[in-house]
Amino acid sequence: MESFLIKGGKRVEGSLRVDSAKNAVLPLLAACVLTEEPVTLTDVPHISDAHHMVEILTMLGCQVTCEGKAMTVSAGGIHNWEMPDRLSKQIRSSIFMLGPILSRFRKATVTYPGGCEIGLRPIDLHLSGLRSLGVVVHEEGGMIYCDGSDMHAGEVHFDYPSVGATENVMMAAVCLPGTTAIHNAAREPEIADLQNCINAMGGKIRGAGGHTIEIEGVDRLHGAVWEPISDRIVAGTLLCAAAMTGGEIELTRAPVDDMIAITSKLREMGCVIHEEPKLLRLKAPERLAAFSQLQTQPHPGFPTDMQVQMLALLCAAEGTGVIVENVFENRFTHAGDLNRMGANILCSGRTAVVRGVKNLYGARVTARDLRGGAALVLAGLRAQGVTQVDHAELVDRGYDHLEAQLYQLGADVKRIET
Ligand code: EPZ
Repeated sequence: MESFLIKGGKRVEGSLRVDSAKNAVLPLLAACVLTEEPVTLTDVPHISDAHHMVEILTMLGCQVTCEGKAMTVSAGGIHNWEMPDRLSKQIRSSIFMLGPILSRFRKATVTYPGGCEIGLRPIDLHLSGLRSLGVVVHEEGGMIYCDGSDMHAGEVHFDYPSVGATENVMMAAVCLPGTTAIHNAAREPEIADLQNCINAMGGKIRGAGGHTIEIEGVDRLHGAVWEPISDRIVAGTLLCAAAMTGGEIELTRAPVDDMIAITSKLREMGCVIHEEPKLLRLKAPERLAAFSQLQTQPHPGFPTDMQVQMLALLCAAEGTGVIVENVFENRFTHAGDLNRMGANILCSGRTAVVRGVKNLYGARVTARDLRGGAALVLAGLRAQGVTQVDHAELVDRGYDHLEAQLYQLGADVKRIET
């Protein structure tokens, strides 16, 4: 097992380029299956979720080549419509391979991805959306068998604006004759990035970022070269690292327009933030002020993937704040470890009340999921003494060597074998 070892008290200061977004890269890799021609993503971070997606694509018969951070996927030789069981379980987001595989083969078999630490992660909206396109879905023994032989364009309405379900239906519909409409679609920036990349491949999708997305079916897609958008959650996490330590940070290639909910909350806590296109500068006060409340919502509301990082900030802030997690059912699992570091968090259901304390203290704690692990690192940056965060591999799912990035910014963080 690998762990992060953090010696607290160092200011996080300096400039860093923001990596491409995990939650854009994963659906973009899936979309490469929609064409027989090579698709190149010019900037893919070295994160384990991307590596697992590449393993899945390779097992389906794709050729994947890398040159630096650029990745080219050639799906001309794809021969398999059955998702590998072991890998499907390893990475939940493999579920949005369903749409592309159905588009290519008109049939698909995937394993139920199952839940994870933050919630049950059902896929009923994915399946109901595909059924609206005429896909016959049979669920048995933990497997999902999809028959798309009679697939057609259609009207899809989501009871909840699910990110993955929106992406799945977009990709399933891209070559269906006629026009498909998705109502109550997810509006996350990664959806627009997927639309724009598919359009660069010859697709005809419009409306991403709004409540309704229209997909006009085309005969076929061709290859493309595409730069994914940068990661608003990694950028937000790095801003929090500076905010936690009274530091000062500059982020280049920052998705400024996609981070309004995050930057306005950090301003509410006393940070001074300067914005230019693709550039963010944050200067933090010696001690943050608690915000009164934070509610996670689908975009453009406050992103759930930044909730636990803000919880960590609140722990050491002046005052009391309330966080309500409206998106996932179990996203306060790191409150216990934060309290072991001296925080004062009271959780009840989807609500956490945090009374800020002056000091946090180093402890040995455990990452249970990707963003919670990052939040424990943030707490360690401020804590007096040494903090060890076990299971660094969970953080590696979405951060490209977080310890190296923070070390480059002046923090005393290293990775150790434990
Ligand atoms: C995507 O997950 C992201 N993952 C998540 O990021 C992110 O937290 C989430 O969107 C919300 O923004 C990727 O993009 C790879 P949802 P996804 O479908 O698509 C319920 C991270 O840390 N739901 O919008 O799974 C679900 O239970 C990860 O980077 C159904 O009920 O999110 C949840 O309560 C974590 N039925 C809510 O919707 C369904 O069929 C949001 O889920 C699907 C979802």
